[in-house]
Amino acid sequence: MSKPTLSKVVIPAAGLGTRFLPFSKVIPKEMLPIVDKPALQYIAEEAVASGIKQMLLLTSRHKESMEDHFDLAFELEAILRERNKEEELKMLSQLSTLVSVASVRQQQPLGLGHAVLCAKPWVEGQPIGVMLPDDLLEAPTPCLQSLWECFGRFGFSKGVVALMEVPWEKTHQYGIVSVKPIDENVVRICEIVEKPKSNPPSNLAVIGRYVLPPCIFEKLETVGRGAGGEIQLTDALARMTEAPGLLGYLFRGRRFDTGDKLGFLEANVAFALKRPELKNAFLAYLRQTVEENAQ
Ligand code: G1P
Repeated sequence: MSKPTLSKVVIPAAGLGTRFLPFSKVIPKEMLPIVDKPALQYIAEEAVASGIKQMLLLTSRHKESMEDHFDLAFELEAILRERNKEEELKMLSQLSTLVSVASVRQQQPLGLGHAVLCAKPWVEGQPIGVMLPDDLLEAPTPCLQSLWECFGRFGFSKGVVALMEVPWEKTHQYGIVSVKPIDENVVRICEIVEKPKSNPPSNLAVIGRYVLPPCIFEKLETVGRGAGGEIQLTDALARMTEAPGLLGYLFRGRRFDTGDKLGFLEANVAFALKRPELKNAFLAYLRQTVEENAQ
């Protein structure tokens, strides 16, 4: 049998984005710009850099702009061509050929596990990547690629999730794990709890990247409703710890939670400072702002 490859990624993006109202009333929060690209495009670029060819957006009503963003904009390109805007044309053509995009509606807000379950018919029995679009990750090797390498190294059968330490006082916002080390970067997950209200087993949190074998769907189908009355991906992952096994990859790059106002602002500062055309002027503005606001 030929070795499995990672070609499909599922992106749950059906949420209402209440933390970003009123912005998210009409425009999906996944379309918030980080400098000049929507947050979702950074996620797609990480996926493609990890070998992904097909991306499934799990969406809901009024969120069509996410698909439109990756589509060919015929009229716009025609106008740019007429005006000899070569650079912009090239940028748009790279975007519309970046990745093949499909979408499925998650008709009811029944949780992250339910969203992933909606992807089952599209997945066709292959291992998949799952990327949560609020988590913008930066590392020399794209995080999803590192997870896939780990998935292959341990036999293409165990689930792999990305982990990162978070402040203890924030553990109630995450899936939290207890682990046994395997090597410098990989751990075996013994226990995983969704948003523990008290006594978290550690401060190691699941961040929004997963590589999952096809058996995840059987677990999701039988797991029932968990925290908040929702079907939780974490509960299905908990059922994988015994068999086939669940691994954690210790992510050492930078993470921005763009679903949070502060994280969104931090991401904009960090990514603006990486732009040669913006860096000096923006840094000067930041310095001046810090000085003016110093007590
Ligand atoms: C989700 C997952 C949680 C994970 C987190 C990472 O929670 O349920 O296990 O730790 O993403 O960002 P959410 O932030 O969607 O509430």
